[in-house]
Amino acid sequence: MDRFKNKVALITGSSQGIGAACALKLASEGCNVILNGHKFDERGEKLIAQIEKMGQKAVFLAADLSKAKEAIKLVNDAVKEFGQLDILINNAGVEKKADFWEVTEEDYDLVMDTNLKGVFFGIQSFVNYCRKHKIAGTVINMSSVHEEIVFPHFAAYCASKGGLRMLTRNLATELAPFNIRINNVAPGAVSTPINQDLLEDKKQLEKVLQNIPLKRMGKVEEVANVVAFLASNEAAYVTGSTYFVDGGLTYHYEEQ
Ligand code: NAI
Repeated sequence: MDRFKNKVALITGSSQGIGAACALKLASEGCNVILNGHKFDERGEKLIAQIEKMGQKAVFLAADLSKAKEAIKLVNDAVKEFGQLDILINNAGVEKKADFWEVTEEDYDLVMDTNLKGVFFGIQSFVNYCRKHKIAGTVINMSSVHEEIVFPHFAAYCASKGGLRMLTRNLATELAPFNIRINNVAPGAVSTPINQDLLEDKKQLEKVLQNIPLKRMGKVEEVANVVAFLASNEAAYVTGSTYFVDGGLTYHYEEQ
């Protein structure tokens, strides 16, 4: 398939995990890709080599997306790299575990600034570019099942992803007149470094799997497949939605 021939995508937080899988998936279908993370290292180098081997172009732009200024600059710099930008995938995200009564302002700010504020202003910058050049851009936000279901001890994370849910619903209406689509992808439990502690704790992992109807963790490629669909023209009539990639976790029912 060549769904992304002559398209350019910016994927934030794409050195590893779900973001890296999205970059590889889009590139495998003809997309040129701008990768991002805090800093360029051997993971970015390896990804660029893989993407170039597929015949596509890739560059890495370092930026700290918890800072609105850097999020705005990243989008502007991304446009300059290949002279266009069609797809924005806001994937970078962080979580901090703590009992609610012990959450520090520093951790609250880090989670909210990365997962919501940076995303907000990155989208604003992309929308300004799309409007100026009359581009039917598309935005995909990496949300979480926790835009919908609770996650005790992760209050700030849930607030950030819940905020992302309403941001997407709101912008879908506001941006539709410009033919800009925006959707969320909400992964459940996916095997990535963010879940390292869980993957190493057999007992806890077993408990988590019991709540997942498909009885396994998700794979990064399975999230990337849905992202690619939403980014493509096949989803031309989809905006303001959340697509859950969760093995049935969010709306599961335990038969007694
Ligand atoms: P990960 O931790 O493997 O990757 C996240 C990437 O974002 C890392 O490369 C990290 O360096 C980058 N990043 C974090 N803060 C950044 C910042 N301020 N500026 C630039 N880059 C930054 O995580 P994973 O699992 O791939 O998660 C990706 C997204 O998917 C996140 O938004 C996460 O909340 C979401 N998600 C993941 C789930 C999972 O089970 N893995 C479940 C639900 C949602």
